[in-house]
Amino acid sequence: MNIIDRIWNSSLGKKYLMALTGAALFVFLIGHLVGNLQVFGPPELINGYAHFLKSKPLLLWGARLGLLACVGLHIASAITLAQLNAAARPQAYATKGAYGAGVASQYMLPTGIVIAAFIVYHLAHFTVLLPGVNGTGQDFTNLKAQCNHETVPDVYGMMLIGFDVGWVVLFYLVAQVLLFMHLNHGLAAMFQSLGLRDHVWWPRIECFAKVVSIALLIGYCSIPIAIYLRLVGADYAERIRKPKAAITQPAFAATQAKEAK
Ligand code: HEM
Repeated sequence: MNIIDRIWNSSLGKKYLMALTGAALFVFLIGHLVGNLQVFGPPELINGYAHFLKSKPLLLWGARLGLLACVGLHIASAITLAQLNAAARPQAYATKGAYGAGVASQYMLPTGIVIAAFIVYHLAHFTVLLPGVNGTGQDFTNLKAQCNHETVPDVYGMMLIGFDVGWVVLFYLVAQVLLFMHLNHGLAAMFQSLGLRDHVWWPRIECFAKVVSIALLIGYCSIPIAIYLRLVGADYAERIRKPKAAITQPAFAATQAKEAK
């Protein structure tokens, strides 16, 4: 049996795998938040940053494939561990959450599933730029801006228009709350899986998990909320937003264009 089989076929190996892939995804979440918070600066800041990442295809695709592998392994080890636990304890506990890891660990699978669904939506919304899912009727691939004398995708404008839609903002906020619940327990469990649980370290680890997951919750929620409330880039959004009539009635838009000539 090779090392990969040995890791995969032991529950301890799967716990390590889940902890390590979780740690990698956590590092991504911090980096992604720092990148996204640039939306609070001038448009050139986040547009230049996004353009820089896209101009390094090897780095970009390496990170994308690494992330995909981490998400896949994290989900697969979570599901198989849950199956192993269920097989080892065919009769459910009489009192839910009274033993073992407690109530918080029961959130992990359902919150994880909704977060996975959010990621699929989020990729369609802001990476693949599927016009049908953004709720604005606008095609984000047409949004371009000038940055350092180059025409680049207008990620700043896309976020402003994208978070002008109430249900989209609500879905993002719900996903961030579930992500907070998942991280609050998951981060502490990660250290426990790596063998760092004793009476001195455990309270500190729990405090660290709480503080970091609250900071991520506030950071991620601040973006859609600030944009929806027009605290960020309201004039810019006004300039690039298509009038509703032009989206819903192409004939009206054509008449307007003729009149303009
Ligand atoms: C309010 C919260 C968030 C905002 C505003 C946001 C914004 C963005 C934007 C603008 C992009 C596209 C970047 C570009 O085209 O250059 C993106 C991509 C992405 N986001 Fe988020 N994001 C948020 C939360 C999250 C969360 C919570 C996760 C993971 C759980 C996540 C995972 C990703 C991934 C995997 C990509 C694809 C990166 C790539 O292009 O390879 N995002 N996000």
